[in-house]
Amino acid sequence: MTEEWQGWREAAETALYGDGGFYRSPVRSPDGPAGHFRTSVHASPLFARAVAGLLARTAAELGIGTVALVDVGAGRGELLTGVLAATPEGLEVVPYGVEVAARPPGLDPRIVWCTEPPRGVSGLLFANEWLDNVPVDVAEVDGEGVARYVQVRIPDGGERLGPPVTGADAAWLERWWPLSVPGERAEIGRPRDLAWARAVGSLEAGLAVAVDYAHVRGARPPFGTLTGFRGGR
Ligand SMILES: C[S@@+](CC[C@H](N)C(=O)[O-])C[C@H]1O[C@@H](n2cnc3c(N)ncnc32)[C@H](O)[C@@H]1O
Repeated sequence: MTEEWQGWREAAETALYGDGGFYRSPVRSPDGPAGHFRTSVHASPLFARAVAGLLARTAAELGIGTVALVDVGAGRGELLTGVLAATPEGLEVVPYGVEVAARPPGLDPRIVWCTEPPRGVSGLLFANEWLDNVPVDVAEVDGEGVARYVQVRIPDGGERLGPPVTGADAAWLERWWPLSVPGERAEIGRPRDLAWARAVGSLEAGLAVAVDYAHVRGARPPFGTLTGFRGGR
């Protein structure tokens, strides 16, 4: 029975990015994320125009005429398509869509589609609502005040408390999301820190921007933030 239980990180990894996972399956998500929820990317062309402006400013500050635009978690390439349409004349853009999902049909052939950020490029790395999709483990304080990993039962999503949180995860909680009261929960954001550090480190020079939902250390929600959207709900 024990193999029926997983940590939240592993469970979310499988559900989102496994074979047939939410973000990868053309059957579950034929229109990509936009088929389920709306981000600023889909809401208005103003957003792509603002990113195009930022890209131009980044190129000017770097003193380069050819600039990379790396969109991490590129969805179906909507932002890249919008920025290419809004790029000021005279600026040459090399666009990269970093995505676990397959290259969408009909995408502008200038867009390089890849699963990892290209290394050593100069320009703007932009991640809109990517980091909140990087799976993390969840911790909850038990009746004795000990923070334990929350485990999920594979067939039905039932939860139980697993082993105590230790090591680097415990140090992360201590620093970023201290827990004390029984029943309090936290998402252990360490994988997001590491993912972001890796993404930023791929740039030779330039600017990296993450746009996402957030809360600060002094105002953590007591029961965590896990939320899923499907079909607009
Ligand atoms: C919430 S959607 C946002 C899509 C788009 N950036 C937008 O704002 O509309 C998150 C996207 O990140 C992608 N993604 C998540 N983890 C990734 C990873 N490690 N590498 C590449 N893409 C990833 C997902 O497949 C999904 O398309």
